[in-house]
Amino acid sequence: MPGHTDDVSLVTRSAEVQQQLREHIVSQPADKFAGKPWQLVQEIEQFANEKRLPMIFRSAKISTSKTFLETVEPKPKTVVEFGTFVGTSAVAWAAILQEFHGADAKDIKVYTFEFDEKVAAVAKDIIKAAGLDHIVEVFVGPGSESLKKLVAEGRLQPGQVDVVFIDHWEKFYLPDLKLVEELKLFHVGSVALADNTDMPGAPDYLAHVQKGGEGPVKYESRSLKSQSSHGPSIVEASRITAV
Ligand SMILES: C[S@@+](CC[C@H](N)C(=O)[O-])C[C@H]1O[C@@H](n2cnc3c(N)ncnc32)[C@H](O)[C@@H]1O
Repeated sequence: MPGHTDDVSLVTRSAEVQQQLREHIVSQPADKFAGKPWQLVQEIEQFANEKRLPMIFRSAKISTSKTFLETVEPKPKTVVEFGTFVGTSAVAWAAILQEFHGADAKDIKVYTFEFDEKVAAVAKDIIKAAGLDHIVEVFVGPGSESLKKLVAEGRLQPGQVDVVFIDHWEKFYLPDLKLVEELKLFHVGSVALADNTDMPGAPDYLAHVQKGGEGPVKYESRSLKSQSSHGPSIVEASRITAV
């Protein structure tokens, strides 16, 4: 959140660059990214590097997370993501689910939450460019409210969430993880992945998963190090061992 003038100008600049990214992607021939999600992820990252667009989940960490998810059995089908931003990681999760279950799988889904309406609109266009809008659904508003709504509507059932990816503001990491616990969305073998636990850090979240949880939901947690050349390099991967 902007705390002083420099932060405000950074946020404004970031908003401009997000729109430039949208234009850059949608102005390319339709067949450039349709069905080629990894090409799109690469293009976003290259653009982000050139234009200094921060915050995207970069390919080094995507690769580390993918390798980890390959060890999970049965293979994940439902991903819930807190923090869509421009849709980089949402596209990557959908691509990974397609690799696990086939491009035509009907029962794979990524629910992603973004409270900034303008950046959510950018993400929707980017996800559409990859032809993944039948798999990825973007919800605008606080992630906690979107998640509760999905459960209230019966679109997410107890025990249905295979992967939770937490990549929004760090103060929400633990409350939103606890909400997933309370809504009983995990099953034994589900996974919680969290970005930026090393920098800027989410100490209360990290303490919770690393001590194995507090309630009936138990975790076995590892800090996965990636070869990221940009900023933080850890993804915290926590397997759910009891619910
Ligand atoms: C680090 S970025 C996410 C990057 C994204 N995963 C990607 O790979 O492009 C964090 C995003 O979370 C959003 N956000 C922060 N708090 C949120 C909340 N409580 N609910 C939903 N979105 C939130 C911010 O607006 C921002 O766009």
